[in-house]
Amino acid sequence: MDGARSKQIQFVPRGGGPPLAIARSEGCTLVTPDGTRILDAAGGAIVMNVGHGRREVAEVAARALEQTAYLVPPFATEGRVALVERLRTHWLPPAITRVAFTSGGSESVDAALRLARQHFVSKGEPGRWKIVGRELSYHGTTLATLGVGGHAKRRAGFEPLFVDGPKAPACYCLRCPLSRAYPGCGVACADEVARVIEREGPESVAAFIAEPVVGSTGGALVPPPEYWPRVAEICRRFGVLFIADEVMCGFGRTGRRFALDHWDVTPDILVGGKGLSGGYAPIGGVFATEAVLAPIAAAGDDFMFFTYGSHPAACAVADKVLEIVEREDLVARAAEMGERLHKALAPLERHPHVAEVRGLGLLRAVELVRDRDTREPFPAEARITQRVVATGLRHGVFFYPGGSDPARDVIVLGPPFTIGSDEIETIAQVLERSIDETVARLQG
Ligand SMILES: Cc1ncc(COP(=O)(O)O)c(C=O)c1O
Repeated sequence: MDGARSKQIQFVPRGGGPPLAIARSEGCTLVTPDGTRILDAAGGAIVMNVGHGRREVAEVAARALEQTAYLVPPFATEGRVALVERLRTHWLPPAITRVAFTSGGSESVDAALRLARQHFVSKGEPGRWKIVGRELSYHGTTLATLGVGGHAKRRAGFEPLFVDGPKAPACYCLRCPLSRAYPGCGVACADEVARVIEREGPESVAAFIAEPVVGSTGGALVPPPEYWPRVAEICRRFGVLFIADEVMCGFGRTGRRFALDHWDVTPDILVGGKGLSGGYAPIGGVFATEAVLAPIAAAGDDFMFFTYGSHPAACAVADKVLEIVEREDLVARAAEMGERLHKALAPLERHPHVAEVRGLGLLRAVELVRDRDTREPFPAEARITQRVVATGLRHGVFFYPGGSDPARDVIVLGPPFTIGSDEIETIAQVLERSIDETVARLQG
């Protein structure tokens, strides 16, 4: 098994010293015990939306824990009720009215897969069980989510333990898996979703799952305008539920409430995590239409919860974080600062070792290659992404390491929505310098 896929050890170079100690964090900055300041260009793991060190959130957490440390998920608490209400009135698409909470992204996707299956079993269609995913995607680390995901490195070695779902190709124009070019391709990769469903037998397929904007696996891959409307239509045509995994790209990250809003598409099941609490509490959410839940209710069945699902303090914290996002108009700010980041990164588009700079809002990525003209990647052993991240840290900026073959080396940027213009300039400058220094060391 290759240690490079493991999230927790990517942040120090192989054979490097102990993990970097962080004593505290504030705004967009991490502070080490000796006072060194590190600009958090990744918002943790693309999690922090309102920035670090919000006292009012900590106070809400303390109050919620004093009120009720723990209650089983079906009981109502002030925080739970408020969060559900806020999501329904301010965040979720109108058709998505049903809400359940877990402790994070993987659990939420896992629950969404179960929900899709339960929908069809309750409806008297037990033959529908397959979940179609896409290559170059990530949906979590549980065995079920690894099975529907397409992150080769993170899946490697675990294959005997999971059901390997059928995969449609990624929508990855830089290296089109169908060897076509947009717009002449007619977005053939969207039609591949239909082809895979037909190949599997539509009567056996329960759902299709995808990240509307692929996060760290492919590096902020944004499909063309036709893609999502067509895929949603394909799902409808075959009676297949469309699960949008917005764990990374949701809750304002791309400059709209949810990434699919850019395409005016509503899925049947929407999955959130990360930005739901902006890193202040471990919580994820599974959101669905009435039509998804109706057969389950009609069958007198219920949806199984996790012990820590809807944790009272996590719900209260998420409600507060979303309230801050609304109060400070941070989704619009993510769009605005995302444009600035895009402009600041523009010089890298001509860099000899950058194949592409891409993304939406404050979810951006830079794909590194050995040769810009041929798009030949650096050899895997070079571990260029890890090295660039380590170099960035030495220069006081934390970048997120992403990528999976064929998008092997990707530096992901996802700073808090509160990021300032000067900080954006610093991110772009340090990234360029870190790439240059890393490549020079590799070649020298
Ligand atoms: C798109 C997507 N889905 C699911 C997950 C899993 O979330 P978690 O790490 O909170 O379990 C992630 C995490 O990075 C993600 O980016």
